[in-house]
Amino acid sequence: MTHDIRNIVILTGAGISAESGLATFRGPDGLWEGHRVEDVCTPEALARDPVLVHRFYDERRAKLADVQPNAAHEALAALDASWGDDLLIVTQNVDDLHERAGARRLIHMHGELRSALCVACGKAVSWGDPLPPGSSCTGCAAPRLRPDIVFFGEMPYRMDRIYAALEQADLFVSIGTSGAVYPAAGFVQTARHAGAHTIELNLDPSAGSALFDESRLGPATLLVPDLVRTLLS
Ligand code: OAD
Repeated sequence: MTHDIRNIVILTGAGISAESGLATFRGPDGLWEGHRVEDVCTPEALARDPVLVHRFYDERRAKLADVQPNAAHEALAALDASWGDDLLIVTQNVDDLHERAGARRLIHMHGELRSALCVACGKAVSWGDPLPPGSSCTGCAAPRLRPDIVFFGEMPYRMDRIYAALEQADLFVSIGTSGAVYPAAGFVQTARHAGAHTIELNLDPSAGSALFDESRLGPATLLVPDLVRTLLS
């Protein structure tokens, strides 16, 4: 790392949760838990077959009970605790492993499995149980709750806050993401433009690997604690 670091933005993807036992999206067969992404992760899929889409996310939500944060989530939580408000962790993941490890400065840009979104009033409510189509909003009572997942074609959450942090970043770190999905895949360019040092930590080179100043290849449970140790030393 080449210069003094104060403001840090960390982007995480499915690879950080892989060693906890959660499947990544783009496995060798191109399927996510046996489904094509467009069959479970688009507004059209939800309109066409709400039972299938709701059940798919019910299964993913239930699976959270079987998994634990790993050393990579824990290292980022330790960084969060020590670094203060100049850190922002942005995750594309809809699991809750970052917060269960203790991270607090966290944005779920693609939504959360443990949240339900009311299509009628726009309220997001905490949700731990199965969510059948027609479930009622605890705010407005309309029977229109859906999984609080940002589907393809929908706007990710809190982009203003994320871009504001990227514009200030001295260091941008991308962990366990294939770089296939925008806008997250473009964050490295925004951070570079702002003068940040950029590091990728991933098992394989991502689609945007060449855009990073450094690309470190290996499992997140080794690479992330290493990086955090360096930052905190
Ligand atoms: P992907 O499944 O596309 O990519 C996961 C990346 O993690 C790959 O580049 C793997 O090489 C890497 N990886 C796997 N195991 C790892 C490990 N143990 N340590 C480090 N890296 C590892 O997942 P994302 O990039 O997160 O969107 O996918 C982005 C978005 O596409 C998701 O948020 C989701 C999906 O459609 C929505 O649900 C809206």
